[in-house]
Amino acid sequence: MMKESIKNLAAYEAEIPAEVVKAKYGLQHLARLSANESVYGPSPKVAQAIKATSDDILGYYPDGQATLLRQAVAELDDVDPENLVFGVGADELIQLLTRTILTPGTNMIVPDPTFGEYALHAQIEQAETKKVPVNVKSGHVDFKAMLAAVDDKTAMVWLANPNNPTGVFEPVADILAFLDKLPKSVVLVVDEAYYNFADESDATVAQYVKDYANLVVLRTLSKAYGLANLRVGYGIMTDPLYPVMQAVRLPYNLNTYQIIGGTAAVKDQAYLSEVVAKVQSERIKFQKFLHHNDVTFYDSQTNFIWIKVGDTKKVGAYLLSKGYQVNDRLNKEWIRIALGTPEDNEGMRQALLDVIE
Ligand SMILES: Cc1ncc(COP(=O)(O)O)c(C=O)c1O
Repeated sequence: MMKESIKNLAAYEAEIPAEVVKAKYGLQHLARLSANESVYGPSPKVAQAIKATSDDILGYYPDGQATLLRQAVAELDDVDPENLVFGVGADELIQLLTRTILTPGTNMIVPDPTFGEYALHAQIEQAETKKVPVNVKSGHVDFKAMLAAVDDKTAMVWLANPNNPTGVFEPVADILAFLDKLPKSVVLVVDEAYYNFADESDATVAQYVKDYANLVVLRTLSKAYGLANLRVGYGIMTDPLYPVMQAVRLPYNLNTYQIIGGTAAVKDQAYLSEVVAKVQSERIKFQKFLHHNDVTFYDSQTNFIWIKVGDTKKVGAYLLSKGYQVNDRLNKEWIRIALGTPEDNEGMRQALLDVIE
């Protein structure tokens, strides 16, 4: 009736809706800090652009090439417009890449821990996922071990940079050194969902895509751009992957609101910079607090922090009862908290002090 490999596939555990949590705990205010969303939301120009869209479009298919968005992104990232594949969130690009590249019996390599969607889609494609633990002390990717894990069945390697859930950033030079040692037949996907939040101004490998046919960069508007609900992501890749991915994707995967709204978002770089500055300043405050209280965490370059708290379920339940929804489902000892507003972060710090032994 179905593929053997996915009989026991566990569905992605989506967030519990805010209203359900509030009712359960009798909360007036709930800070949702469990899905790495932006508490600042998108540029106001996004809603303006969407509202200004004529209803006349509704009866017609959208622009299958997402031309406006394609041009805006190509200009912003200084890449060829013919190197961009758009999708319903970076999630769709992850699905498309695994669908395009993996066949039963091949394998892919990921750091452990990392974003769970990579392995989920590999399983659907009946491919094996080899997990290479990150350095326990620093959270950094073990590039040597990743390379050692490559064999003649390896079709792709994933790097979220900065990584989710660790928040750890790998310098561009280290990624390029790794890529140079990787067989040309192995695709390296660098998922830069959080790269806007990095302190480093040169935090992307996008400019190297034109030099490496086996390098793909993923981006999303869900995080720093505050548009998780609009569902816009894209991949940067060159031939031969680009034309094939364009053929594999659904012809009208982005609707006009996504195209118009996404374009307005990427054009408002002043707004993006403001958001990033606020997140960076809250990150410094939070990490100082953790350091001061001898709490183990990895140095984050994202809008979330991976913190060792001991009994994750106990800590998660306590924080939720106080109105702070965090991700306690990923590990028995570590929780992932997204940075919220300054007020919520202050409250969260207090609640953490109360619950961590
Ligand atoms: C590393 C990483 N990649 C991709 C995604 C998916 O992003 P999108 O909302 O664009 O599908 C996430 C979302 O949490 C993520 O953490």
